[in-house]
Amino acid sequence: MDGKLGAPRTMADMVGVSKSFGGVRAVREVDFSLRPGEVHALLGENGAGKSTLMKILSGEVGGYRGEIRIDGRPVHLTSPSDAQRAGIAMIHQELDLVPALSIAENVYLGREPRTRLGTVDMARMVSDTARLLTRTGVTLDPRRPVEQLRTGEQQLVTIAKALSLDARILIMDEPTSALSTHEVEQLFGVIAELRRAGTSIVYISHRMDEIGRVADRATVLRNGSVVAEFDARAMTATEASEAMVGRPLHLMFRAGSDDAEEPASAHGELLRVENLALRLRQPRSGRRDPAGISLRVRRGEIVGLAGLLGAGRTELLETLFGVGSKGHWDGRVLLDGKPIRPRSPRQAIKLGIAFVPEDRRIAGLALEHSVLANTVLSVVERIARLGTVSRATERSVTRSTVERLGVKLASLTSPVGSLSGGNQQKVVLGRNLLTEPALLLLDEPTRGVDVGAKAEIYRLLGQAAAQGVGVLLASSEPAELIGVCDRVIVLSGGRNVAELNTAEVTEAELLAATMNNGANGTDSAASQPELATGETP
Ligand SMILES: Nc1ncnc2c1ncn2[C@@H]1O[C@H](COP(=O)(O)OP(=O)(O)OP(=O)(O)O)[C@@H](O)[C@H]1O
Ligand SMILES: [Mg+2]
Repeated sequence: MDGKLGAPRTMADMVGVSKSFGGVRAVREVDFSLRPGEVHALLGENGAGKSTLMKILSGEVGGYRGEIRIDGRPVHLTSPSDAQRAGIAMIHQELDLVPALSIAENVYLGREPRTRLGTVDMARMVSDTARLLTRTGVTLDPRRPVEQLRTGEQQLVTIAKALSLDARILIMDEPTSALSTHEVEQLFGVIAELRRAGTSIVYISHRMDEIGRVADRATVLRNGSVVAEFDARAMTATEASEAMVGRPLHLMFRAGSDDAEEPASAHGELLRVENLALRLRQPRSGRRDPAGISLRVRRGEIVGLAGLLGAGRTELLETLFGVGSKGHWDGRVLLDGKPIRPRSPRQAIKLGIAFVPEDRRIAGLALEHSVLANTVLSVVERIARLGTVSRATERSVTRSTVERLGVKLASLTSPVGSLSGGNQQKVVLGRNLLTEPALLLLDEPTRGVDVGAKAEIYRLLGQAAAQGVGVLLASSEPAELIGVCDRVIVLSGGRNVAELNTAEVTEAELLAATMNNGANGTDSAASQPELATGETP
């Protein structure tokens, strides 16, 4: 019992917990405790052991050493259902929904409500799911198959699913990585409500600005060990980041904006999109303006795309890469002055376009194959042109990519699936940069990536731009858009509704432009005359 007078009661304690995978010591002698009604942030670089520690607490990873106590009593959790019975639920970093099933079926998978006749009570499942979704702030038809949903929407469904479990201990592993500001606010509302009801929450995130707002305490892991504990409200992002990486850190966005005035000839127009009418997955009602997206990207320019869920950012990037609509769209796209209409990624790649999608699973990562195989896959054609590709070349290309991005791995032949979430993301980005594209399309490229690696990714993007690559970057983080991009275009309902010069706007102004033009808006562009619309000539 730990009910000593004065000492705060704990809901869960992990004492001296360790876990190895083969030779990799993922978690080392960790002490971690959770008080009732607290939000406890768990911080650390990619591969620090956060997910592993929490998968131990949720019964998914066994074979650990050390002790776990719930309400002061030692427990041995050997499966997720064990943990569920103990009141523990986890929202996973990797979305783990069944694509072909409906939202409601996913939420109640394996514990479907029954009618008195013993059949599945579909009506109740649908109405209960609708209520849960409303709590998370989305309106989605619970009968829609999950495969039709955007990554952010899927993330909200997994949150709804966790809420349906009524857990006393709720673990959230990067719940906001695919959410935009509006949805994050809604989630914070839900967290505050749960906290008041006495639920203990573990909150894992790489978005440092969230921690001070949402958490009470923060524990920092480095290489599997606890290295610091903070009062989350008093902690600064710098303090926390330095504890994470173990050295002073300078979080830089782009290396200097010294290249403000280059000869226009070297930086001509690379991409022009004219009235591109997207097929939004969630058709907007009240659509009356058929006009689509118009924008331009110059060589060496990084153009940001802001917008809420469903604004069309992902659809735009996918269309340009020949995914989804496979060339069936209205409007014109010119690359280097020539009209293009890619019908497949293969064609897009041939045209010099590279794409980093928001969902790693569709990024073509073969999880069971090695980091080496996954990396060289993208460049085999290019290096093969110079003759046959030797094993040695493959290894050296991969090794330098992995080193540049600081991918943490046991060996180049480790399966990609054994890497931590953030490290998988770095592999996706690295191999796209290797293809040396003319146009680089990025959808939330730093999703789940730690602060140190973010800085490195920003540096690499700046470098690519300096070499003349045109970049189109969709992001939900205002700080990232302002810090990295030259201009930001705000999308809403499949149209560009505003354009902001990042040298002149603040994060708050960018946010306001995004929200005003998107919040539940079906017809908002018309009501925003004060914002510059269209694009620069
Ligand atoms: N199933 C597994 N097999 C082999 N190694 C694993 C496995 N799961 C995790 N690891 C290793 O354990 C270490 C910790 O990984 P973990 O996923 O816990 O990191 P993390 O802190 O959650 O990182 P991220 O921020 O990237 O999500 C990493 O080195 C990872 O490669
Ligand atoms: Mg993780």
